[in-house]
Amino acid sequence: MKLSPAQLAQFDDLGYVYLPECFSPEEIAAIRRASQDVLEQPRPEVWREKDGSPRTAFACQKYNEMCRRMVTDERLVEPVEQLFGESVYLHQFKINAKAAFTGEVWQWHQDFPTWHKDDGMPDARAMNIAVFLDDVMPINGPLMLVPRSHRAGALPSAHDTVTTSYPLWTLDKETVTEMVEHNGIETPVGKAGGVLMFHANLVHGSAGNITPYSRRIAYLTLSAVSNAITKPTRPDFIAHRDFTPVKKVAAKELADFAKNGEAVAA
Ligand code: SIN
Ligand code: MN
Repeated sequence: MKLSPAQLAQFDDLGYVYLPECFSPEEIAAIRRASQDVLEQPRPEVWREKDGSPRTAFACQKYNEMCRRMVTDERLVEPVEQLFGESVYLHQFKINAKAAFTGEVWQWHQDFPTWHKDDGMPDARAMNIAVFLDDVMPINGPLMLVPRSHRAGALPSAHDTVTTSYPLWTLDKETVTEMVEHNGIETPVGKAGGVLMFHANLVHGSAGNITPYSRRIAYLTLSAVSNAITKPTRPDFIAHRDFTPVKKVAAKELADFAKNGEAVAA
């Protein structure tokens, strides 16, 4: 799946592009079942909120077949290859649960400073591509993006180890205020099955979820192969060490597995 000239122009201008209805309801139902299994696992790769509800499940493509299929799906891989003009490797894969009632905040941050400072990623030639597994609404902790903030490059940041997030390099109030004064805040919302791609230097965060509606999102972090990390300090399940180019597969592979494969694999 390639981005249209209008979508490429929007990404360049605003730093993100939202693609509705990339995955069918049938596919999403199967991915949700997979994410339910994953988020219940008592593994060190599954981080939890203070009350024990799941927050982030890292690297579940290594043990869950549906997740493994997501990370090679052409609908997710091809637009990123198109933007970088080269093959990509998988730097990280995770499911963020943002659980009903208890899903906590994600502090304001840019992604690249964490990848650079903690993993030794050379350049902002990587990005997160988010697959909405639930309907993302204004009320259940959607991602908040500051349009055009990617143009500021990497901003000064501090290491946050206070929230239930895994440690991230976060932005202070003054920096966020200045960015928002110029550009405002957007919250791309939409039905489960939508996909959001955003630039590694786009300022973003999300508020807590006190609604009865969970807001699960799966994230692939794809990096240009020329941009391999050089000094990883985080565990392999957070910053992968395998820089093999992702071999993309047709969307049909995941669709067929959603329809028939789970029964066969069970
Ligand atoms: C992130 O920025 O890494 C996650 C934010 C979210 O899922 O709300
Ligand atoms: Mn982020």
